[in-house]
Amino acid sequence: MTEAARSIDVLLSAYQPHALEQSRERALDYVRRLLNDPFLKQSDLYGSTVDFLAAMEQEGYCANCPGLGACKYRGLRWAVSGESLFGRQVLVAGIGNCSDREKHELQKKTEQLIKTSKIPDAMERCSFETFQTVGDPVIRTAKGLAMACVEDGSSLILGGGTGVGKTHLAIAMIQELTAKGKSAVFVPVVEILDEIRAGFDEGTAYKIQQAVKDADCVAIDDLGAQRKDKSWVDERLFSLIDARYRSGKQTIITTNACSMSQLKEMLGEHGTRIVSRLTEMAQPLFIKARDFRTRKNVQQKLPVGRNRNA
Ligand SMILES: Nc1ncnc2c1ncn2[C@@H]1O[C@H](COP(=O)(O)OP(=O)(O)OP(=O)(O)O)[C@@H](O)[C@H]1O
Ligand SMILES: [Mg+2]
Repeated sequence: MTEAARSIDVLLSAYQPHALEQSRERALDYVRRLLNDPFLKQSDLYGSTVDFLAAMEQEGYCANCPGLGACKYRGLRWAVSGESLFGRQVLVAGIGNCSDREKHELQKKTEQLIKTSKIPDAMERCSFETFQTVGDPVIRTAKGLAMACVEDGSSLILGGGTGVGKTHLAIAMIQELTAKGKSAVFVPVVEILDEIRAGFDEGTAYKIQQAVKDADCVAIDDLGAQRKDKSWVDERLFSLIDARYRSGKQTIITTNACSMSQLKEMLGEHGTRIVSRLTEMAQPLFIKARDFRTRKNVQQKLPVGRNRNA
């Protein structure tokens, strides 16, 4: 209940008790009609009568919605909902975003998330739509699994040789999750470690690491390609993956390793501990397929009119 509504109720009950009674009757009639329940009682309504009447007044206005830009309520909408208060079910009138404003807020959030997702401009074209299965059952399985992980929020390790589409699929997943309003970040392993290293002096390293730890989903690209000659690299990497493991948040890994034991070898000092965590938190899929980059070259040479996906 707003302060203003509370004051109006107090004034009415002190100086015009009859008017207050009439308002309460109107509010009850409205809620009975709204919920199609003629047996509701005054005691089922909790909070200020003014709030319920505000919801009633707005109902007609919103039925002829003028659009968010012209809305006199700026997309804020009174709504009646059930709540459990002091162990009793009551009805309250509260204010929230209407569906148009919610859509607008989600769009704003998505635009912001796209900026922070760190997907390189040249890779923005990588989506599930642009990922071709090229008649290869292994590629089809990889795509299906990546799409399923977007739906159920589970983690995934995509391993295999060069050019088989691991990074493409990881970016497609990040873009889909971002479009759903999740904070999802694409992190090339070499770059993020360089950034953390460079940020040590300016104190930004902590912020970068925190952002990677906090995101709903993180795709760590090219795990195993990091520098092998610095022990701080191994420590940072372990710390990032351990944080993802402990939070239970969705993590996508791409790597050139073709098995978990090969990945362990590629991860240096903390290889055993990292792979132990990854094995528990994510499903691995090692893709054996042709390098799409060479396939593309062949396709580009095909005369126009021939089936490029064959
Ligand atoms: N099935 C596919 N359909 C469409 N494009 C693909 C497919 N597979 C790969 N590509 C394209 O081929 C190029 C190489 O793919 P990608 O970068 O995903 O390979 P990768 O497996 O990550 O290789 P690397 O191990 O070298 O990093 C990219 O331009 C990508 O968009
Ligand atoms: Mg790659």
